[in-house]
Amino acid sequence: MSKLPPRVRIVEVGPRDGLQNEPLPVPTTVKLAFIAKLVDAGLKDIEVTSFVSPKAVPQLADAGDVMRALPRPTDVVYSVLVPNIKGLERAIEAGAKRIAVFTAASETFTQKNIGMTIAQSLDTFREVVARATERGISARGYISTAFVCPYAGDTDKERVRAIASSLLDMGIEEIAISDTIGAAAPTHVAATVQCVLADVPAERIALHFHDTYGTALANVYAGLQLGVTTFDSSTGGLGGCPFAPGAAGNVATEDLVYFLHRMGIETGVDTAKVVDAASIIADALQRPLRSAQWRMRPEKSSTGRR
Ligand code: COA
Ligand code: ZN
Repeated sequence: MSKLPPRVRIVEVGPRDGLQNEPLPVPTTVKLAFIAKLVDAGLKDIEVTSFVSPKAVPQLADAGDVMRALPRPTDVVYSVLVPNIKGLERAIEAGAKRIAVFTAASETFTQKNIGMTIAQSLDTFREVVARATERGISARGYISTAFVCPYAGDTDKERVRAIASSLLDMGIEEIAISDTIGAAAPTHVAATVQCVLADVPAERIALHFHDTYGTALANVYAGLQLGVTTFDSSTGGLGGCPFAPGAAGNVATEDLVYFLHRMGIETGVDTAKVVDAASIIADALQRPLRSAQWRMRPEKSSTGRR
């Protein structure tokens, strides 16, 4: 077994990736209480909302209100998803200090998700990132469907490497290689990450796994063995992409933290407080959550919800 890192950085994406696909609207005040609890749990990197078209993702139409109302502890970085210059302008106006742009390794998916070719998306982001950098705003870049595309099948790892290189060249700090539909397995993850590592150092790679088929934690382990130390997750295992039908949520933050702590890897995150945050959202969504930690929580009532 190769050496595991002593510490992992978790990027919480629940308020964005988690809530973008929920049928029940979540009030802005509940989103704020949810994010406050995530901060209390020790999460330092939180993707809080999206400045995408409110027609495309009405669940996050209150992005500006959320961003403006958040308290700003100095040791927490809030990121926001931005698809174009209009999104950047909205993010700047709301005081964002970190953005996330997003393309995909599949043409069909990129077209359905943002109405652009991959090349057009990269041209758009070059301008977005340049303008953001001028204002001291940092950027991460997602590569969706990096392993499997719901429309095109398995993704060519060389394509992922080429897109990752382009993102790095335009000044993006961190590349989030994403299993949007949660269909990858550890051998597949290892092959793709190894290929990307030829151009991108491990410190600048984040792995973003959805858990549709229960492979997400095994995939995290594959990433750890290749030296990756940043992983995305979503409290409660919420999430999914409205443009990737059938995909389940991200690996749950509380399950990821449990998994890492049991292997002696530090995260700085309090599992029980993450479960409390999950309960805030479970109440708002009026449904049980998929995470093991939430199902096993000690305060569970007879109805399965608090
Ligand atoms: N924020 C708010 N409104 C925006 C916007 C933004 N970032 N970008 C575009 N719009 C508005 C335009 O002003 C225009 O409004 P109008 O119809 O009132 O004139 C309308 O949206 C269409 O603009 P256009 O530039 O033609 O965009 P589009 O319809 O081709 O949509 C995206 C492109 C990228 C804005 C849209 O596909 C999108 O927001 N996708 C998000 C997908 C997503 O979040 N997926 C989940 C994450 S993986
Ligand atoms: Zn995702």
